[in-house]
Amino acid sequence: MEFKIDATSKGARACTIKTAHSTILTPVFMPVGTQGTVKALDANDMLEMGAKIILGNTYHLYLRPGSKLIKKFGGLHGFSKFPNSFLTDSGGFQAFSLSDNSKPDENGIMFKSHIDGSRHYFTPKSVLDTQYDLNSDIMMILDDLVALPNTKARIAKSIERTTKWAKEAIEYHMEQKAKGIGTKQNIFAIIQGGTDKEFRKMSAEQLCALTDYDGFAIGGLSVGEPNQDMYDTVEWTTQFMPKDKPRYLMGVGTPEDLIENIERGVDMFDCVMPTRNARNGTLFTSFGRLNIKKAEFKEDASAIDENCECYTCKNFTRAYLNHLLRAGEITYFRLASIHNIHYYLDLMRQARQAILNDNWVEFKKEFYTKRGK
Ligand code: GUN
Ligand code: ZN
Repeated sequence: MEFKIDATSKGARACTIKTAHSTILTPVFMPVGTQGTVKALDANDMLEMGAKIILGNTYHLYLRPGSKLIKKFGGLHGFSKFPNSFLTDSGGFQAFSLSDNSKPDENGIMFKSHIDGSRHYFTPKSVLDTQYDLNSDIMMILDDLVALPNTKARIAKSIERTTKWAKEAIEYHMEQKAKGIGTKQNIFAIIQGGTDKEFRKMSAEQLCALTDYDGFAIGGLSVGEPNQDMYDTVEWTTQFMPKDKPRYLMGVGTPEDLIENIERGVDMFDCVMPTRNARNGTLFTSFGRLNIKKAEFKEDASAIDENCECYTCKNFTRAYLNHLLRAGEITYFRLASIHNIHYYLDLMRQARQAILNDNWVEFKKEFYTKRGK
């Protein structure tokens, strides 16, 4: 991938990332499309909103429909018809979220399928093989993340395993590339270490020494720790990360979390929040969140956010969305998801513009003022 820093403002960075499938301007939010689609939406919706990269999940796609099948259809791009970039997560997070049905050891992670209970063993190499079939533009390594709070011993184990797996993964990837496999695909390592400074430093230094990696992620956050601890950990960790490669904070977060972490030097984000919240009635606006199910919106003829340029806000009223949600109409999921994703993508476009104009501080102040903070 090509990577270039276009501007900085306070700690915030505006960068350009070029993959084989798209040019990505940062800061960037990557909508989550776990099973090869962003829930309730299709490739065309994502293109209309200007999404240059979306996320897919190795674990889910490996189990169903299987990576070999997706490969037959031209990888994730051919199968889903989304022509821009895909990033695929490795399965490391699913081990964490399906903790009763997964078990890590020194060489990999055993999973019990959430679909049929069958057993599958993921290794640093096997998750890359799956991601070669998917042909994602950015592949994530297998990592061992832990819930917080946790014991020092368990966090130390997680770092030790993650570094061992990262070494195996990059060695394997270089071998595969030499054989002509995955030559256009990029690979990111994932820093772990809980909220402990020494552990984070150790993990960052060990992984960032593996200079063949195309980028680095900060993982293991937003897993139960207080918000300020997450911000402090990110601020601490980015100083050990190379300036000339993308930095990705995994699974984060709220609009406020994005703003705070952009200022701490993060370029890329993903989170289920805009899509999951849309489905349960929580909509994001420039003045904060609103719950569209509330009775007060029953006869409200205004758009969700009068300042929003999305398809939903341009065409429909709060009253209509309130009705669709209450009536259980599936159209609601589509319209609400479009609005929330548009909100996140647009917030990132505005953040980028503020960095290019070198007025990050004013931008951030206005962001909070509008929401009454
Ligand atoms: N998604 C959110 N956090 C993480 C993490 O620490 N590792 C992986 N693989 N995925 C994540
Ligand atoms: Zn809107």
